[in-house]
Amino acid sequence: MMSKFPITFSMKHFLVVSLALNVSLILRIIYDNEDGPSKYMGLKKTTMSQYDAKSRREVSIIHHLRLSASTLANSSTCSDHPEDRDRIINLDHGDPKMYEKFWRKMGDKSTITIPGWQSISYFSDITNICWFLEPELAKEVVRLHNVVGNAVTKGRYIVVGTGSSQLILAAFYALSPPDAPEPISVLSASPYYSSYPSMTDFQKSGLYKWGGDAKSFDKDGPYIELVTSPNNPDGHTRQPVVNRSDGILIHDLAYYWPHYTPISSPSDHDITLFTVSKSTGHAGMRIGWALVKDQEVAKRMTKFIELNTIGVSKDSQLRAAKVLKLVSDSTEQENTQELSFFNYSYEIMEQRWKQLRASAEANGLFTLPNFPTEFCTFFNKETENLPAFAWMKCEKDIEDCQSFLGEHKIMSRGGKHFGVSQRYVRVSMLDTDENFNLFIDRLSAMQI
Ligand SMILES: Cc1ncc(COP(=O)(O)O)c(C=O)c1O
Repeated sequence: MMSKFPITFSMKHFLVVSLALNVSLILRIIYDNEDGPSKYMGLKKTTMSQYDAKSRREVSIIHHLRLSASTLANSSTCSDHPEDRDRIINLDHGDPKMYEKFWRKMGDKSTITIPGWQSISYFSDITNICWFLEPELAKEVVRLHNVVGNAVTKGRYIVVGTGSSQLILAAFYALSPPDAPEPISVLSASPYYSSYPSMTDFQKSGLYKWGGDAKSFDKDGPYIELVTSPNNPDGHTRQPVVNRSDGILIHDLAYYWPHYTPISSPSDHDITLFTVSKSTGHAGMRIGWALVKDQEVAKRMTKFIELNTIGVSKDSQLRAAKVLKLVSDSTEQENTQELSFFNYSYEIMEQRWKQLRASAEANGLFTLPNFPTEFCTFFNKETENLPAFAWMKCEKDIEDCQSFLGEHKIMSRGGKHFGVSQRYVRVSMLDTDENFNLFIDRLSAMQI
């Protein structure tokens, strides 16, 4: 097989042929398990027995070429584990398992011990409007925003929530006019975070209801607009789009951290939401916080959480305080031996995006959003937008990108969940190295 190659065979040709050969390997890999999870994914099935010895010999040659292609694509990721061939990679959720490695490196520094007698009371600080907010967490939230420069905290009330998800609902409750003749419309510009519509409507509140894409909103009367910046799913920096005087804004800045996007200035809005889920990667702690300008709004948000869960886990708040403290410490002690959280995370995101762009370019089946580099006040240099999700558009005649990836055993979230066409798909960039590398391997080998 190799002897048929012309002597002038360039590296580019080598890559193209290598990728083409990968397809047969991957197709075989995908269809080789009768009882595999394909039955849950509507995949076609066939068995490895359909392939003869020649095919098996080709597999080893292909494997060799595949390694070279991956190297060219700056990936060096190929998995040799046979069990990986059939493994479904779940990149549907933005589960931030990527960060586990950093926190393992931090070792005992990030450990906290909570004796049985501690955190027993419902109350944390009865002098605070948000009476269940642990003072230690409040202190570390303010410190981290000052260290990063991504939010004004002076003159703001901090309301802690069980994730920013609870704070979104608390804000809806706090901002909805209590005696309006009909529920206030909640909007966000498409493609919007897929949970917004269902979170808004699942309790069929009489106070608020999902009003759809902010770009096409033309109803009279007040509205609440969710501004997500950088945006989930597409990573773009956003501004409000309706821009009417009767609009109320909630800024969801879950991803406004320097490892995802250049920090241009401290955010300074009426209500701004943040979460440890995306900043430090501790989604399981379920801690988010709101910076709120208006005292009455802060009181109403606090009331919602009181009625909903009578506060927020103190244990989680103390753990969150510890983690935020270490992130600030690691930033301030950057020139010492300390591993800086933001440098570390930025480098990983940068590397992952490079790999993704290289494999998308190589197979020509997907396009990705492009972002200009911008000055980041935190890093004090031009940095890139490195979103937590890849917002991929399928090209050629692939109409349903989610199903197409599903055929390659990659679970993703299709465009319809974000209010746009199924040609788009959202893929998490925050999974483990193993899953991300497998994803890149499969992407690099795809063809139609
Ligand atoms: C834009 C945005 N807002 C809010 C959330 C919810 O985060 P939390 O885990 O803090 O509830 C997410 C989670 O993916 C998100 O992407």
